[in-house]
Amino acid sequence: MQQQNSGTIVVFGATGQQGGAVVDGLLSRGARVRALVRTPESDRAQALAARGVELAAFRIDEPAAQVAALDGAGAFSFMTPDSGSPEEIEDEVRLGAALVDAAVAARVPHVVFNSVSGAERDSGVAHFASKGRVEQYLRQSGLRATVVRPTAFMESFAHVPLTVEDGELVLKMPLPDGVGLKLVALKDIGQVAAAILVGAADVPGGAIEVVADQLTGTQIAAAFGAHAGFPARYEALPLSAVTDIEDRAMFRWFAQAATYPADLAAVRAIEPAVWDLPAWIRSSGWTAPADSGRR
Ligand SMILES: NC(=O)c1ccc[n+]([C@@H]2O[C@H](COP(=O)([O-])OP(=O)(O)OC[C@H]3O[C@@H](n4cnc5c(N)ncnc54)[C@H](OP(=O)(O)O)[C@@H]3O)[C@@H](O)[C@H]2O)c1
Repeated sequence: MQQQNSGTIVVFGATGQQGGAVVDGLLSRGARVRALVRTPESDRAQALAARGVELAAFRIDEPAAQVAALDGAGAFSFMTPDSGSPEEIEDEVRLGAALVDAAVAARVPHVVFNSVSGAERDSGVAHFASKGRVEQYLRQSGLRATVVRPTAFMESFAHVPLTVEDGELVLKMPLPDGVGLKLVALKDIGQVAAAILVGAADVPGGAIEVVADQLTGTQIAAAFGAHAGFPARYEALPLSAVTDIEDRAMFRWFAQAATYPADLAAVRAIEPAVWDLPAWIRSSGWTAPADSGRR
């Protein structure tokens, strides 16, 4: 694979899921990586250092230190952390804007922002709209920028209630059956971002939705059931079953997002070995829960 960007790639969020996957993708391409971390002595930061990642300390209230950490960067990858309350939303945007400002001051030649699919539309989800604001701030910065917009993480199924009831695998989600939920594994978010960061992939239009599979509730249940050797059933819950307002808005959006075409080919053009859901299930070590016996 051609590596056009041989400079150090700086990654913000490297101790987290997405940033960690970006680091994995970069290291697998032989890139030099510097992680911008708020707690360099943490176990996760030290685990990065043990893999050859340089650590630079991050403080949101120390812009000069951020600029210094970006010194000489060939490219910069950042994401913004989860938010929910109005205060957290503003913190998220402030953090994103501070990172963009630092990249401007350090004259970073290419910035890749891991946003979210839907940030570019009127999703009705506050923590998607916040990423839309960061995208806009980045666009207006004059930096060369690429936006990577991941769809729902396959890893979320580690938290979605999957049960086994009288030998049948049951999946329940607040999403009507027949709606194709867009999914991607963290590994592929990292691989796509890394390919763009090292200059091995170009994104026409400067933004890409990172989607690897699109499946209805029944199809998702069937994939888990097939892996576990159980027949499977999907139960669509009503939106009213979701108590968290932000989660309710998100599932309402997922149903709407299914109507926008998923450009799987664009993602495969960058990462041919992209995982569909069965591949993720196999790799994740997921096992079916004990049979609750209820029906
Ligand atoms: N779940 C999904 O399906 C999905 C899909 C698309 C997009 N997203 C978006 O992905 C984002 C979450 O990504 P993730 O799962 O990779 O997050 P994560 O695993 O929670 O990692 C967050 C990273 O940000 C750092 N961080 C958090 N708050 C910080 C702060 N105030 N200052 C400096 N660093 C801070 C953390 O560092 P420490 O190690 O120091 O804590 C960590 O490296 C959310 O914005 C979410 O909306 C999620």
